[in-house]
Amino acid sequence: MYPQLIIEALKKVKYPGTGKNIVEMDMLEDNIRIEGNKVSFSLLFEKPNDPFIRSIVKAAETAITTYVSPDADIKGNISVTTKQTVRREPEKLLPDVKNIIAVASGKGGVGKSTIAANLAVSLAGMGYKIGLLDADIFGPSQPKMFQMEDARPFLERIGNRDLIRPAENYGVKLLSIGFFVNKNDAVLWRGAMACNALKQLISEGNWGELDYLLIDLPPGTSDIHLTMVQTLSITGVVIVTTPQEVALADARKGISMFTGEKVNVPVLGLIENMAWFTPAELPGSQYFIFGKEGGKRLANELHIPLLGQIPIVQSICESGDTGIPAALQPDTITGNAFHKLAESVVERVAWRREHLAPTQQVNVS
Ligand SMILES: Nc1ncnc2c1ncn2[C@@H]1O[C@H](COP(=O)(O)OP(=O)(O)O)[C@@H](O)[C@H]1O
Ligand SMILES: [Mg+2]
Repeated sequence: MYPQLIIEALKKVKYPGTGKNIVEMDMLEDNIRIEGNKVSFSLLFEKPNDPFIRSIVKAAETAITTYVSPDADIKGNISVTTKQTVRREPEKLLPDVKNIIAVASGKGGVGKSTIAANLAVSLAGMGYKIGLLDADIFGPSQPKMFQMEDARPFLERIGNRDLIRPAENYGVKLLSIGFFVNKNDAVLWRGAMACNALKQLISEGNWGELDYLLIDLPPGTSDIHLTMVQTLSITGVVIVTTPQEVALADARKGISMFTGEKVNVPVLGLIENMAWFTPAELPGSQYFIFGKEGGKRLANELHIPLLGQIPIVQSICESGDTGIPAALQPDTITGNAFHKLAESVVERVAWRREHLAPTQQVNVS
């Protein structure tokens, strides 16, 4: 038996309604294997719910036993893969970056940048190689949170390209739109200008090898969000909200944008920030200043994981101003909360990788 004979036999199998055979339609994948009498290969279908999967597989089996050899062991050896579940993989811009996670929120002021910074620091503390891209053109706050307001990343020549070397602190490589513009000018940028600058930070940043690149997105839904998802192959997005109704309503809008057809990025989960307040002198009590468990409820309702609940803690607020992230302090309420959050993000990313292989196997037996 030769692969060519098998291909010829499969040319006899037509895809209903097209007048074309399955080889012409590029459905035969380049993986024909012949071991003794055993023949196996896979067929690629457009959609997992293609009504002809079963009949085409049967027809292909019959074609092999009829035209190649009656002894061919083919039954059950044709596997089916489908295209549709594969998101268009944008050209791999950052091949050395394993995971890209966007941190988004519907509303401003819910703690998106605080979460992004502390998540980055916690992940770095766990030994991962971490980068953080501050893409919030309306309020780039990461330089301050990392005590790097004066950092001016410089160009370095790598091979035949000039790349921007990220600033680095607490084990996190940082590039911020704030490094390049005066904070007060950032808001005046027109959409296209901001998008171009961000594209440049991504494609010309010398990020090197990273386990996770976090992106602090601007709040809401805008051109920037579209640019980001179209430029990068984003592993997933985490949505930050407070338990307050107005924040939840905006979080919901954000989620529907990310899961919508135009953007279509997996939502890894929801983070409820400012979940409660516990005063230092009353460590046993919790005050639900912005409402109780609103984030948890929204996560349940939309069937997305709740990745963490972060309380309101004075040191979190202060640490944003001093530029020493609260997550750096081990064995504190905040240090632990951010560590736990980082663990659930890692777990969630691993889960997605394991359960959603790029092509989905369909069982046809
Ligand atoms: N869990 C928290 N506890 C106390 N203060 C917080 C907490 N999360 C955020 N903040 C404070 O709230 C303000 C807004 O947070 P920020 O991260 O800048 O929000 P965003 O990026 O969503 O606009 C900042 O002053 C920050 O220090
Ligand atoms: Mg911010």
